[in-house]
Amino acid sequence: MAPFAPSPYRPGMGLDPPYLGDRDIQIERFRTFLAEPGVPRNLLVTGLRGVGKTVLLRHYSDEAESSNWLVISREFSDADAQPDVFARTLLTDLTRLARRLSMSARIKSAAAAVAQSVLESLGSLSVSYGEIKVAVSAGRQATAKLNRLDDDLRDVMMQVGDLCLRSEHPGFILRYDEFQVVRERRGWMTLSALLSSVAAVQQAEIPIMLILCGLPPMRENLARSKSYSERMFFTEELGNLRPPEDRAALIDPAARLNRRYEDEVVELAMQETMGYPFFIQLYGDILWRGSSGTTITRADLQRLRPDILDVLDRGFFEARFVRASTEERRILRFIAVDGESTTVDQLQRRSGRQNNQLQPHLSALVQKGLIYRASRGHVAFTAPMFGAFLRRRPE
Ligand SMILES: Nc1ncnc2c1ncn2[C@@H]1O[C@H](COP(=O)(O)OP(=O)(O)O)[C@@H](O)[C@H]1O
Ligand SMILES: [Mg+2]
Repeated sequence: MAPFAPSPYRPGMGLDPPYLGDRDIQIERFRTFLAEPGVPRNLLVTGLRGVGKTVLLRHYSDEAESSNWLVISREFSDADAQPDVFARTLLTDLTRLARRLSMSARIKSAAAAVAQSVLESLGSLSVSYGEIKVAVSAGRQATAKLNRLDDDLRDVMMQVGDLCLRSEHPGFILRYDEFQVVRERRGWMTLSALLSSVAAVQQAEIPIMLILCGLPPMRENLARSKSYSERMFFTEELGNLRPPEDRAALIDPAARLNRRYEDEVVELAMQETMGYPFFIQLYGDILWRGSSGTTITRADLQRLRPDILDVLDRGFFEARFVRASTEERRILRFIAVDGESTTVDQLQRRSGRQNNQLQPHLSALVQKGLIYRASRGHVAFTAPMFGAFLRRRPE
């Protein structure tokens, strides 16, 4: 139908957008970090789902690799958050780094023996968690000597760091996404071991950078595991795109392919999406595909708006809603009564429940990424138009 190029927009997860809006500050700051490998730096990247955390991480990697840093990236899942899996995962990542370093030109010619001995010692590592023994290399027996995870991590990071200093790489980065799933449990070291070992090797001037990315509860998880965690990290809190970058994210990709939007369309799209990056991609995509003029008009938007809402309802909103329990769904509906946010006082009145009955459900909804505490005593939906979705969704 449309005599135009395929849609340039990228609604989805972690898909690089055609125009990266409103991230210059973060990327510029990251470049200054890369320029000073001797200065200990770690980054927390947080923000609600769909604001573009994973996309920014991808750009971090590109920046880092183009300055010759080594980057190990991983997306965590619930399974990886199990303490034994967590231990093996981290040690495996460090082993991967050691292997990559051992291939580096300078190491090959000058420090091959050192690299070989590091790799051998990594291969025989095993960590104990009470009764559970974790061997890093599958198939190897755990050796008799069992260590605590924090000790092992620190030793391994030191060795890898030492290799790195002998190589042509300025430093190495552990870049972990969806990290809100990892929590410290009593008697099972996870976060605390990672933080304390990174802090220790950074004090020894090893050029390691830790980048942890996840939903906002990640910060609380970290703070609980180590009181100094706030001082270890620079935090990038990502939010919706701000004007004029929100508009550019919609307009620019079309303009590059010789299409434009009527101003009114842009204004309406910004009002509805509130600059939420995922929605901007989705609006752009559906408007692009569903219209055929060089200019995308107000009439196009009116005609296509039901399609947009339908896609959002059946995919995005419904997928979120089903994560809530029956009681949590009731609370969501009470929040949505007259808008996209409300106060806890209002909620108590509407639901007839006491604050102490409500709070556990609210916390669960925050953990699930459905609502956030906008300010003291206020709760709001994490996605624009979620309240409107609940109001039009049949019970
Ligand atoms: N800075 C940005 N400008 C425009 N679109 C973006 C930007 N960041 C992300 N997006 C788009 O938003 C969507 C969600 O991005 P993603 O990185 O997966 O979010 P998160 O990891 O925070 O959940 C993707 O469709 C992506 O193309
Ligand atoms: Mg993500």
